Amino acid sequence: MVGNWKMNGDRGSIAVLLSGIRAASRDRAAAGAATLVVCPPYPYLAQAAQALEGSGVQVGAQDVSSYEAGAFTGEVCASMLIDAGCAWTLVGHSERRMLLGESDALVAAKGRRALAGGLGLIACVGETLEEREQGRTEAVLARQVDALGELAASARADRFVLAYEPVWAIGTGRTANPEQAQAAHAFIRARCARAGFADADSIRLLYGGSVKPSNAASLFAMPDIDGGLIGGASLVSEDFMAIARCAAPAA
Ligand code: 13P
Repeated sequence: MVGNWKMNGDRGSIAVLLSGIRAASRDRAAAGAATLVVCPPYPYLAQAAQALEGSGVQVGAQDVSSYEAGAFTGEVCASMLIDAGCAWTLVGHSERRMLLGESDALVAAKGRRALAGGLGLIACVGETLEEREQGRTEAVLARQVDALGELAASARADRFVLAYEPVWAIGTGRTANPEQAQAAHAFIRARCARAGFADADSIRLLYGGSVKPSNAASLFAMPDIDGGLIGGASLVSEDFMAIARCAAPAA
């Protein structure tokens, strides 16, 4: 269960959020059996790693550079993220693909650096409303998954996670219904196998897009939905933990 905090919070509000998550995660029965990861903005990664040390809750970054260390102004490379206490990074979030023009090739290059540097990878895919309405959902997902195929050799299932986030469901309050999400997840899993991922059956596939405590259980009950990538609701520790409790334990 991954919380993507996006560009929200400050040192004070993040301290409150972290202590709420830490307190709730102490009680494993209350926290549920899911692996928990939070992805704060860059300046707060070390703060999060320190606050969550020993809690079992892991820290992830929201992005990683496609370059190694050196003269790349504004970039943050995988080794720095590990140094700051990260175990994971997101790549390919639709906000970055759309607002910052990140291509499939750049997403794959970032993924390659992350895995090579020792980070676990959470790669995001998903179609826009226009693409869905034009009947192009599967073509878009196929293109995005195929672009990650070059990672298949280096991506073990315990370090490679895919997140399906239909763009039209992100921050809109409009969730994909469980059947829509399941259909996309089943397609993505099959496409992973075709793209060369030997352990496609055990790759964890997260659903993201307006997940709330009220709709989480019905989504996570679907056979190919292994967890969630939570935006807005992950900014409230009680909501994030309530969603986490809806996740089935890893098989
Ligand atoms: P919301 O949960 O706010 O819809 O955001 C989903 C998301 O983009 C997580 O990465």
